[in-house]
Amino acid sequence: MITPVIMAGGSGTRLWPLSRLLYPKQFLSLVSDNSMLQETVARLGSLDVTEPVTICNEEHRFIVAEQLRTIGDLGTIVLEPAGRNTAPAIALAANIVANLNAGKDPVLLVLAADHAIEDEAEFTQVIEQALPLAEQGKLVTFGIVPKSAHTGYGYIKRGDMVDAGYLVDQFVEKPDGDTAQQYLDSGEYYWNSGMFLFKASRYLEELTALRPDIAAACEASLNNVTKDLDFVRVDKEEFLKCPDESIDYAVMESTKDAVVVPLDAGWNDIGSWSALWEVDKKCADGNAVKGDVILHDTKNCLVHGLSENEGQRLVATVGLEDIVIVDTKDAVMVAHKDKVQEVKQIVETLKAQG
Ligand code: GDD
Ligand code: MG
Repeated sequence: MITPVIMAGGSGTRLWPLSRLLYPKQFLSLVSDNSMLQETVARLGSLDVTEPVTICNEEHRFIVAEQLRTIGDLGTIVLEPAGRNTAPAIALAANIVANLNAGKDPVLLVLAADHAIEDEAEFTQVIEQALPLAEQGKLVTFGIVPKSAHTGYGYIKRGDMVDAGYLVDQFVEKPDGDTAQQYLDSGEYYWNSGMFLFKASRYLEELTALRPDIAAACEASLNNVTKDLDFVRVDKEEFLKCPDESIDYAVMESTKDAVVVPLDAGWNDIGSWSALWEVDKKCADGNAVKGDVILHDTKNCLVHGLSENEGQRLVATVGLEDIVIVDTKDAVMVAHKDKVQEVKQIVETLKAQG
């Protein structure tokens, strides 16, 4: 039995000004009419899975409930009083799933709510192939053949073959540019896709061994769980004491029990405007456009005007190459495609200004 755990608590700041703190990117329809969250759940259609557990910030509970209800059952929605990153989020979900399935030890398929995957059949098949490894107690991660020396990803060095995958020789979360380039050149590394498959008990054992502080804070917050409408709430005061750490740093970099299973299914983390440009359908000259747009002598740009229900405003460009322009009701952003990772600095500036 596999229980999907959907991590939907990120803030998606690099997709500002479309992605906002109150409405971050996992809830936006970026690659289809479905939101990224809905796409994530819909993709599980042909896998043998239970209802999902979705874990998100309490501020987004109604968006999550509405989006899930539109496409099927709500499953369990766990609310975090504040984001403490993915290591604690998964610990809460693992404990809650274990309690819901007393006496069993379900395998969790941990998914980010903001990935695009082109080939769903391949995705399904690879997860099925990886299941025996998870059932043996391995912590499975899915590896993507890297296309560039991207510094926003984890890098995994494959070791000896084991069943459908490889033992993990080394896991390095977000290396610097030179190191990422060496890894890319070596041909021995995968990108970490940020999706994982493991038994709930094994994750909790590893977290307790490697980061007892995180495991203990999560457990304390679960001593006082309340059910509020469709939502499961944990103890706010206790959870706020939890360190902020990702699963990648807290567990995957240090565990001796990780296995990487290669995944070649057109995976893309829609982490930034350039990533969205890559997966978007292009019109002439490599431009990805939305809304009311006129382009002249413009190449390889992403130009998103206001959506229909936001009203009309023409965006016109002349003589541009590799530029991103995003127009929203209250903000316009213009950036070079090579610099879009830095859009999050604008969000920092806005936060500082209150
Ligand atoms: N519930 C919850 N709470 N979810 C969270 C939180 C949190 O505090 N923080 C992040 N998430 C969710 C995000 O919404 C996203 O779906 C997922 O967890 C991963 O978080 P990101 O913040 O997007 O991580 P990343 O992209 O920087 O890095 C991870 O993914 C890369 C691949 O996309 C790492 O696993 C990297 O190693 C990996 O290469
Ligand atoms: Mg991400």
